[in-house]
Amino acid sequence: MRIRARHLLYALLVAPPAALLLAWLGVIGVGAASGHWAVTDWFLHFTMRSSVRTAALLDPVPAPPDDALRPAAGHYDRGCAPCHGAPGKPRPPQVLGMLPKPPDLVGRVGSWSDAELHRIVMHGVRFTGMPAWPAQARDDEGLMMVAFLRALPDLSPEDYAGLVTAPEGTLPAGCSGCHGPEGRGGGPRVPRLAGQSETYLRQSLAAYAQGGRESGIMAQAVNGVPSETLAEIARHVARLPATDGGADPAPATPAPAIARVGRPEHGVPACLSCHGEPRKNPSVPRLGGQPAAYLAAQLRLFRDGERGGGPYANVMARAAAGLEDEEIDMLAAWFSQAPPEPAKP
Ligand code: HEC
Ligand code: HEC
Ligand code: HEC
Repeated sequence: MRIRARHLLYALLVAPPAALLLAWLGVIGVGAASGHWAVTDWFLHFTMRSSVRTAALLDPVPAPPDDALRPAAGHYDRGCAPCHGAPGKPRPPQVLGMLPKPPDLVGRVGSWSDAELHRIVMHGVRFTGMPAWPAQARDDEGLMMVAFLRALPDLSPEDYAGLVTAPEGTLPAGCSGCHGPEGRGGGPRVPRLAGQSETYLRQSLAAYAQGGRESGIMAQAVNGVPSETLAEIARHVARLPATDGGADPAPATPAPAIARVGRPEHGVPACLSCHGEPRKNPSVPRLGGQPAAYLAAQLRLFRDGERGGGPYANVMARAAAGLEDEEIDMLAAWFSQAPPEPAKP
């Protein structure tokens, strides 16, 4: 018999109801225990690898930062290790019953490029349980995670424990691992908390918890912490003494002039009209002594319309809208060296 267009049309008409009938009869197994057929397994992995490869080609990423290991490890320990395990922490048995099993990443990361890992971390993998990053605007956080994944295969259990164990101090254990025992910061990508006002801390924590300020790392850190506890932590942290600013003077740039008078021709206001001392509005954070990389990242988020926050975050977004990249870097460097001032209530 010759196959004619007519036959193909019949097949196309019959296939969907037939599939629906099979599904309705309940003969298609959905149990995870028996695993996939080898061919299904191959096909799913082939599809996943191809999809990630193509998406990553269209979305290249800059080099992952080399100064973000601690906050990324802290996030990995809470958000990823429960499925993927970590050095010295095998995957729990209930996770091994998932289909597909979350793989031990130590042997896997080497087979992906940075852009591919970034793609997986930001977008997750459909139908597998691999979740997307909870803050989709934060490509920079995804890149911090890629840097950690690159380091993972070389970490001994002791190295890993050293990265994720919270030091004892006056900050709760759920915070001190990244922000330091006295809130004085944990490297260039993590803000110092000591010296900020209670109002600013409380408003920031509420914004993370409610999603108004996007950060996958902080969203997870405050997840499940009752709002009264967060308010209590804010009250407590606001009493911690402010710390020394940077020791080296910032390089000579136009930054102090922008801070004092702004760049009216670009619509940039004088930063110190709000951030100068004494700050009249407790919702305005202290910038002196914050790490430059952190300040620059926040300024880029404000400028790009991705940084929420407390009730006055929109005025800050307007202030940053006209900033150019070099201006952001020089302002961040200058403010990070400015001496910190005592906190206000
Ligand atoms: C609920 C469990 C779960 C959580 C939580 C989870 N993953 Fe996954 N992940 C998976 C599963 C399942 C796969 C396998 C996907 C597949 O086989 O296509 C996977 C795959 C991956 C892969 C690709 C590995 C490979 O070679 O196939 C990477 C990289 C990865 N996850 C990183 C992370 C990171 C980083 C986090 C934390 C931010 C995370 N995962 C959180 C379940 C999880
Ligand atoms: C896994 C690391 C990690 C943990 C744990 C963590 N933080 Fe953070 N925190 C960060 C990072 C990274 C940022 C910057 C996020 C951003 O880009 O908005 C941040 C930002 C903040 C800010 C905003 C500060 C500012 O200047 O705007 C506050 C407040 C804060 N954290 C408080 C806490 C508290 C309280 C806890 C404990 C409940 C906590 N953090 C736990 C890493 C962490
Ligand atoms: C009109 C008042 C105002 C002006 C002018 C202003 N800011 Fe802000 N800025 C704020 C407020 C309010 C916030 C806090 C937003 C929030 O998270 O609720 C803020 C936050 C910031 C932050 C984030 C700090 C952190 O800990 O996350 C940076 C960085 C910053 N400003 C830098 C600048 C720079 C640089 C300029 C000058 C170009 C400037 N600001 C001008 C009001 C202002």
